[in-house]
Amino acid sequence: MKYTIAIDGPAGAGKSTIAKLLASELNILYLDTGAMYRAVGLKALRENIDIKDTEKIDEMIKNIDIQVRYIDGKQHTYLDGEDVTHKIRTPEVSLAASNVAVIKSVRLKMVELQREIAKDMSVIMDGRDIGTYVLPNAPFKFFITATPEERARRRYLEMKESGEKNVDYDIILKDIKYRDENDSTRAFAPLKKADDAILVDNTFMTVEETLSKILSHIKGDGVNQ
Ligand code: CDP
Ligand code: CDP
Repeated sequence: MKYTIAIDGPAGAGKSTIAKLLASELNILYLDTGAMYRAVGLKALRENIDIKDTEKIDEMIKNIDIQVRYIDGKQHTYLDGEDVTHKIRTPEVSLAASNVAVIKSVRLKMVELQREIAKDMSVIMDGRDIGTYVLPNAPFKFFITATPEERARRRYLEMKESGEKNVDYDIILKDIKYRDENDSTRAFAPLKKADDAILVDNTFMTVEETLSKILSHIKGDGVNQ
């Protein structure tokens, strides 16, 4: 049986944490689509392309090579042949990703790659437009969210724990609010709950509680039987 699970929501809601746990529970593939937009953002930064210059971005996207491979079960993202898995995790790249993600040519290219991956195998994809646009027929759709303050708090703790020094909660919150607005108001495939997605506000829920709520929906529909 083929499972297709779409998880959308804003930054720091816990999408990737939950998606990874679900993927291992159900023994299926997890695709982090944000990593692909991050790789495009990194390229734009490296080439010093003005994000507002849609023509230049259109030209860049024609020749870009984004690939996703799995090493020991973990997703690695490649930009023009280079493994950029770790380089795309900076705050600068987060903002660049959100900015290039507004551009239609970028989205069309990423969505084509994402659909190709989901074509023949069971997959859990997380992003912003998976349930509404990339996989509109996915039988399982979840929209995970939490307040901006709680999401910023999670990112703050995550960065502190990873040993980063200059971590500023207010800057993280500002970046999160900027991306929320940018992602939700873009014209093409914005961040939006699909009508048939299950809303999970986990502001006051742990990772385990969120996972168990989502799993109960999936199991309730017979996926694990
Ligand atoms: O993928 P997304 O940006 O939506 O979020 P994430 O990277 O999966 O989660 C951000 C952080 O929040 C992680 O460190 C999670 O462990 C944490 N988290 C949490 O504390 N409570 C939850 N209910 C969900 C996530
Ligand atoms: O992990 P986090 O939630 O911070 O961000 P991400 O999922 O890695 O996505 C980075 C940026 O890529 C987002 O702010 C979105 O602008 C964009 N994105 C998108 O537009 N559509 C997707 N399916 C995934 C990400």
